[in-house]
Amino acid sequence: MTEINHRKADHPIHSIFLERWSPRAFTGEDIGKEELLALFEAARWAPSASNLQPWRFIYARRGTDSFARLLSTLDEGNQRWAKNASALVVILSKTHRVTSSGEVRPASTHAFDTGAAWFALALQTQLAGWHAHAMAGIDRDKAIKALEVPEHHRVEAAVAIGKLAEPSTLPDDLREREKPSQRKPIGEFVFEGRFRAD
Ligand SMILES: Cc1cc2nc3c(=O)[nH]c(=O)nc-3n(C[C@H](O)[C@H](O)[C@H](O)COP(=O)(O)O)c2cc1C
Repeated sequence: MTEINHRKADHPIHSIFLERWSPRAFTGEDIGKEELLALFEAARWAPSASNLQPWRFIYARRGTDSFARLLSTLDEGNQRWAKNASALVVILSKTHRVTSSGEVRPASTHAFDTGAAWFALALQTQLAGWHAHAMAGIDRDKAIKALEVPEHHRVEAAVAIGKLAEPSTLPDDLREREKPSQRKPIGEFVFEGRFRAD
């Protein structure tokens, strides 16, 4: 079976699923606006319940005021390495929808749908020769204020996008963790017929 990045698939899959991983060592080189928009184009085509497309993305390119603002909303542990990204993205989901009668109702799949869009972005990023690293470590209240997020939106995560740099560019503790991770065996999370508790 396919083996890439010291990751071995037990069943035949496309190599992109093993190739994609979340590094922290980034070169900090510039990313063009068009190049970045092409990554969001992939997210655009993600499926969503009733085709509501509840995902929202706020991006900033390195070297801009927006980049500094966005970086400041990340937890310190993430700022340490994400500061070298070429672009930072905050991913939001629209938590409510307006019905045909004008009623504002919770959109139950906003997070699920936005997760699909994030992963389309992540795979396209990998295909384009960049890497994407998601971060839940973000100060959501700070991000809402700093990025002027309107009500009925949830900050889901942030993402650092960059070109892979040598692990030697990282502080010692992060350098040790700089490798593609492994996964549980499929038998632990795929069940036939009914749920099987551990
Ligand atoms: C929603 C989400 C939140 C994450 N939050 C963080 C984070 O705050 N900081 C970090 O360094 N990595 C974060 N990660 C990266 C995960 O640790 C990583 O995806 C996981 O260990 C699997 O490794 P891989 O992406 O290299 O395959 C996050 C990933 C996801 C999908």
